[in-house]
Amino acid sequence: MSKVVVTGKIPKPGLDILRRGGHDVQVWDSEDQQPRDQLLEQVAGADAILSLLTEKVDGELLDAAGEQLKVVANVAVGYNNVDVEACRERGVIATNTPGVLTDATADIAMSLILMTTRRLGEGERIIRSETPWQWGMFYLLGSGLQRKTLGIVGLGAIGAATARRARAFGMNIIYSSRSQAPRELETELGAHRVDMDTLLAESDVLSLHCPYTPATHHLLSTEQFAAMKETAHVVNTARGAVIDEAALVEALKGGQIAGAGLDVFEEEPAVHPGLLECENAVLLPHLGSATIETRTAMATLAADNAVAVLAGQDAPNPVT
Ligand code: GLV
Repeated sequence: MSKVVVTGKIPKPGLDILRRGGHDVQVWDSEDQQPRDQLLEQVAGADAILSLLTEKVDGELLDAAGEQLKVVANVAVGYNNVDVEACRERGVIATNTPGVLTDATADIAMSLILMTTRRLGEGERIIRSETPWQWGMFYLLGSGLQRKTLGIVGLGAIGAATARRARAFGMNIIYSSRSQAPRELETELGAHRVDMDTLLAESDVLSLHCPYTPATHHLLSTEQFAAMKETAHVVNTARGAVIDEAALVEALKGGQIAGAGLDVFEEEPAVHPGLLECENAVLLPHLGSATIETRTAMATLAADNAVAVLAGQDAPNPVT
């Protein structure tokens, strides 16, 4: 019987898959993170670990598990919390959950695009704080999306799904990506690839869909905000540290850009205090994949990956 450690609560269908395999499944059954020292003890002897994105899977954790560990199945598409090199060195297969959260995350990106350009957070706060208001010709005017340009950084599955939604709102699409998107996708989206300088200069809304890696750390900082239109909005549903949050606060306060919609933060769950002072920032607590359907699909896909490796088969979604 293999020992499988699940580092946090996941939807039951994921656990069912693990249990059906006859494995000894040990779950930290709480929404609060398990204290690290306890986790290090619990993983000892594990053959598989299902990790949530809030868990740092590094050499220390892998060594605490031991040499029998075969697979780390991250219950997320982003896997910057997993030290892939450390896994590789120890012969551990790491996997993620691509595909199943594309639409849910693109829905949040589109929501943030609408919220920031139409100042919906500000409006909500006015009503909730019982601030006096009345309809006015020039009251709380935002900017429309029609015929505006959406700049996508990283035209992968989520970037493309966001672009599709934005097209339905009348936006034009440009993108910057490590590689050229397939011609059919470019044709479908009416999108063309530009360099980062052009993307910054031309985007009315810039939406981030790249993975977080050393190369994308602080991809948007003071210099980039200065290169954007003063009327532009930035949306981030990728990972917080792709944006230099302190520089973003300066740009929002100084009027270098008009607004931002953020679902992710550099030091999650902490949020830069300056952002809280910015009326022109819409702030969400990492809800990109937060639907019942999507979280269930993520849990079952991660479980499928773990079970496959434990059965000596190829993992469906390896990242190592
Ligand atoms: C969520 O942020 C994910 O990467 O799955």
